Amino acid sequence: MSDLMNLTLKIWRQAGPADKGGFVTYEVSDISPDMSFLEMLDVLNEQLNAKGEEPIAFDSDCREGICGMCGLMISGHAHGPERTTTCQLHMRSFKDGQTITVEPWRANAFPVIKDLVVNRSAFDRIIQAGGYISANTGAAPDAHATPVPKDNADRAFMAAECIGCGACVAACPNASAMLFTASKVVHLGELPQGQPERDARVVAMVNQHDHEGFGGCTNIGECSTACPKGIPQDVISQLNFDLRTAMRHSR
Ligand code: SF4
Ligand code: FES
Repeated sequence: MSDLMNLTLKIWRQAGPADKGGFVTYEVSDISPDMSFLEMLDVLNEQLNAKGEEPIAFDSDCREGICGMCGLMISGHAHGPERTTTCQLHMRSFKDGQTITVEPWRANAFPVIKDLVVNRSAFDRIIQAGGYISANTGAAPDAHATPVPKDNADRAFMAAECIGCGACVAACPNASAMLFTASKVVHLGELPQGQPERDARVVAMVNQHDHEGFGGCTNIGECSTACPKGIPQDVISQLNFDLRTAMRHSR
């Protein structure tokens, strides 16, 4: 018995930033459960191309869960029904005959460029505001020159897993980017190399976050649930601690 699937897709089409946009329904057939969600969209785009219709614009790059480009809202869930990235989501997570809605991330700070593609450059500007360390140029220092306690190294690695996909923003009713921002603050704040700018970093990154129009965190927790890397909410507590510390130091 064939396990190929036929699906109905309701996909958000929007010609450009100023276009009102709306859902368009497509039927796709003979979809293998082993295809990724993006490969399924590739099949649909090949069909649209063959008919001379405009293919659906969506973002992707690595297609292996590390670049953060591929976020889609799939039937109301950021990255779909599994805790993974859209590119690592497989069609076996869906059933034959299912109707699937596909939308771009919805947030004022992530304006739609076209169809399913949003502009996430607000994240780049948050990183630019403070996501760096000062380091002397020249030859690379000896790897053991600066010892890092294991607990700190583990927590820095955990926070560094954030791939900047934006699912936390899309899932949050406040469209807050606090989980993303806190991941960057914690990543560098746990390391000796991150200490010189620790106070300035958290203030600058939170200011930029607010300036970009992301909402505030009210501890709802949808961000961590949607995060494909499982970044825990307590990074936001650590950001708040660092922010209070920085404000105390500035008095
Ligand atoms: S915190 Fe998680 S959901 Fe948010 S941008 Fe980073 S990886 Fe994506
Ligand atoms: S395409 Fe890179 S994480 Fe999905």
